[in-house]
Amino acid sequence: MTSTTGTTPAAALGTWAWGDSGEVGDGYFGSQLTGAGLREIVEKAQSNGFTLWDTAVVYGMGRSETVLAQALKGYARSEYQLSTKFTPQIAGDGDDPVADMLEQSLDRLGTDYVDLYWIHNTADVARWTPRLIPLLQRGRIKQVGVSNHNLEEIALADQILGEAGFRVEAVQNHYSLLYRSSERAGILEHCREHDVRFFSYMVLEQGALTGRYHPDRPLPEGSSRAAVYNDILPQLQALTDRMAAIGEARGASAAGVATAWAIAKGTTPIIGVTKASHLDGLVRAHGIELAEEDIAELEALADAAGVDTRGSWEHER
Ligand SMILES: NC(=O)c1ccc[n+]([C@@H]2O[C@H](COP(=O)([O-])OP(=O)(O)OC[C@H]3O[C@@H](n4cnc5c(N)ncnc54)[C@H](OP(=O)(O)O)[C@@H]3O)[C@@H](O)[C@H]2O)c1
Repeated sequence: MTSTTGTTPAAALGTWAWGDSGEVGDGYFGSQLTGAGLREIVEKAQSNGFTLWDTAVVYGMGRSETVLAQALKGYARSEYQLSTKFTPQIAGDGDDPVADMLEQSLDRLGTDYVDLYWIHNTADVARWTPRLIPLLQRGRIKQVGVSNHNLEEIALADQILGEAGFRVEAVQNHYSLLYRSSERAGILEHCREHDVRFFSYMVLEQGALTGRYHPDRPLPEGSSRAAVYNDILPQLQALTDRMAAIGEARGASAAGVATAWAIAKGTTPIIGVTKASHLDGLVRAHGIELAEEDIAELEALADAAGVDTRGSWEHER
């Protein structure tokens, strides 16, 4: 993706968990995040060239966008790129729900344009996609991407935008060692062939693939992510142990290896950073080259875990 400041960094930074911060969180992650901590993340990320920030209205119902803008205060708009989403499932009933949702995001983000605007979970592609065209023409959004769309839906969105001289510039799907449906469905190949950037989200399976959590030290009690992952942590142990061992030899963590894997597969991972120290891992991950055998071994271990981590919002592809 070309942007106001050049090319996209090797990884984008995700702020879903930031919607949990402060008093108004949605409790999905059960993270203890503070404004000062988020500012520290931003400073470290920006100074290391990780300048693309992914958010969405639905991450804490506006909270993530608001705290992201606060944490970015003082940086010139040209120094960072913003990626946020139109979520059809919460569309209003006004004349133009897409423009309305975008305006509210722009307001929270304290800006007059978004670098990359996504149609979030697919609903009715033919209904929502044309609504993006005037927003592109007015410069309120620079580029359009589609998230959680299957191959047919991606092609339809691209065709609709194409009629007005635009295109689907990026695809954003769940893609991790444990969840490779976009690869099996040919979406990765499609993106490669058409020079469409593929952004992989939940590369770390919300913490379950970082090595930090294991059966004796589960994900935060009471959080939604704990309800999804804690029961399967025993099945993930062989994989996370091997990731840690591969990482150790290269001065990296299991999370760094998961990230390096996603980069090696030709994707741009969106990493949900919650601590400034996570940036060290990202910087290192960028420099790790995994051998073909490492990739094959990790994928075999992931398959052997026999788990399905498809998000409740995702359709079968
Ligand atoms: N389009 C969509 O439908 C969709 C869906 C899901 C996500 N996304 C996007 O993708 C982003 C990433 O997904 P995600 O945040 O759900 O999950 P993720 O990136 O798989 O995992 C994030 C969690 O991993 C831990 N972590 C992050 N970096 C780490 C590091 N270097 N070392 C160790 N642990 C690390 C943190 O957990 P602790 O805080 O417990 O340490 C963090 O909450 C989201 O923030 C969002 O922007 C998009």
